[in-house]
Amino acid sequence: MSSEFRLSIHGQWSGRLAFFLAATGSAVGLGNIWKFPYITGENGGGAFVIVYLICIAIIGVPIMMAEIMLGRRGRLSPINTMALLTSEDNRHKIWRAIGWMGAIAGLIILSYYSVIAGWAMAYVVRMASGVFLASTTDGVNGIFTALTADPERLLAWHTIFMLLTTMIVARGVQHGLERAVRYLMPLLFVMLLILVGYATSTGAFLQGVNYLFSADFSKLSTESVVVAMGHAFFTLSLGMGAIMAYGAYLPKDVSIAKTSFAIAAADTLVALLAGMAIFPIVFANALEPAAGPGLIFQTLPIAFGQMDAGTLFGTVFFVLLVFAALTSAISLIEPMVAWLVENKNVTRIQAAVYMGLAAWVLGIGSILSFNVWSNVTWSIPGLFKDLTIFDTLDGLTANIMLPLGGLFIAIFAGHLMAEHKVKDEIQTHPTLYKVWFYLIRYVTPLLVIIVFLNLIKLI
Ligand code: PHE
Repeated sequence: MSSEFRLSIHGQWSGRLAFFLAATGSAVGLGNIWKFPYITGENGGGAFVIVYLICIAIIGVPIMMAEIMLGRRGRLSPINTMALLTSEDNRHKIWRAIGWMGAIAGLIILSYYSVIAGWAMAYVVRMASGVFLASTTDGVNGIFTALTADPERLLAWHTIFMLLTTMIVARGVQHGLERAVRYLMPLLFVMLLILVGYATSTGAFLQGVNYLFSADFSKLSTESVVVAMGHAFFTLSLGMGAIMAYGAYLPKDVSIAKTSFAIAAADTLVALLAGMAIFPIVFANALEPAAGPGLIFQTLPIAFGQMDAGTLFGTVFFVLLVFAALTSAISLIEPMVAWLVENKNVTRIQAAVYMGLAAWVLGIGSILSFNVWSNVTWSIPGLFKDLTIFDTLDGLTANIMLPLGGLFIAIFAGHLMAEHKVKDEIQTHPTLYKVWFYLIRYVTPLLVIIVFLNLIKLI
């Protein structure tokens, strides 16, 4: 087998737009609308946001280009792509671990991602029922607490979301995905604009925007920097093979650089809009920015409850959020599913069912960590405090496994792969190529290593 051009057995995108839509569908999800605002609140706002934006620009974008490049060169599942590319350049087998670690990270992320997507599904029903109309902040809070306190209800929604994900993956990610992303993502964008519009009427818009963008670096802890970097990976779907898997279905003539910029820009815009919608509501209602994973569920219903046609808008918003989560969730198990199909003589349907089931079982741990097992926690003194199962799975994947995967990808693309192949795939303006190659060879890996070393308090 060689990496000369051949098509992936899993199919191919119809063109540049299709790939852009699929990769943006993967990138834009709960990470932007649910996670970004709440971790920004937990990490004190502005300075955290700046670090996150820097990470997107000089770590995220270069690694995204590298991942797409590797995927298109290998044209296989990330595990086999890495096996192929390592053997072609006579590199040690250990580099295949990029594929394996990523596939496992994807499974773990999906397990809790589906639980949170379940909350969004539950909110579709609550929005449509109108319970939030003119509801007080306490009332809104009570509805959220009642939901997360009920493991059976969470399990039901988690099950429905996982079934949907499995069904779509079983059919092949190319089918239907293009259309869903093409029409629903712009609509989600419009809904966010409407929410930002509402936020300007709360009287705390400037306070919210100020919180989001004015940086006080003296308050920034080491942990916050780790979380900001981890989130750059998480939000762009990097470091675990999702984008590599999608890159394998990418036609040869599409520009990797341009597409990566566009995806990162779209993703960042959605996150910033979500922040600009949410923090004014937080301050106008004297809520706690550091409320944690429930933040959007405790703030947005207040806005929809007061807005004209809020019931309709709110319902549409949560439906779109569920779709955004679905288009991300499918990319989380695509690497594993593609590998099973290639290696284990199973059909796509079987592979999707096995993986969906595994993530479903694992997700039960996260469900229980919001209620029955909320006291089951552990700490590392001075670093992490009272981590639940959910916190642990999220922290382990987003803050450790994804950056580590990204680091290995950068080293592999920048140092171990024959450069003429790299150049042949990236094909962009010569200066731009040089900048990228320099970043991926030195800057990106070094930054990831520095943040990690800081984490283990070595420097
Ligand atoms: N990027 C997705 C989001 O922001 C989550 C994701 C992470 C998807 C890793 C695939 C891989 O919601």
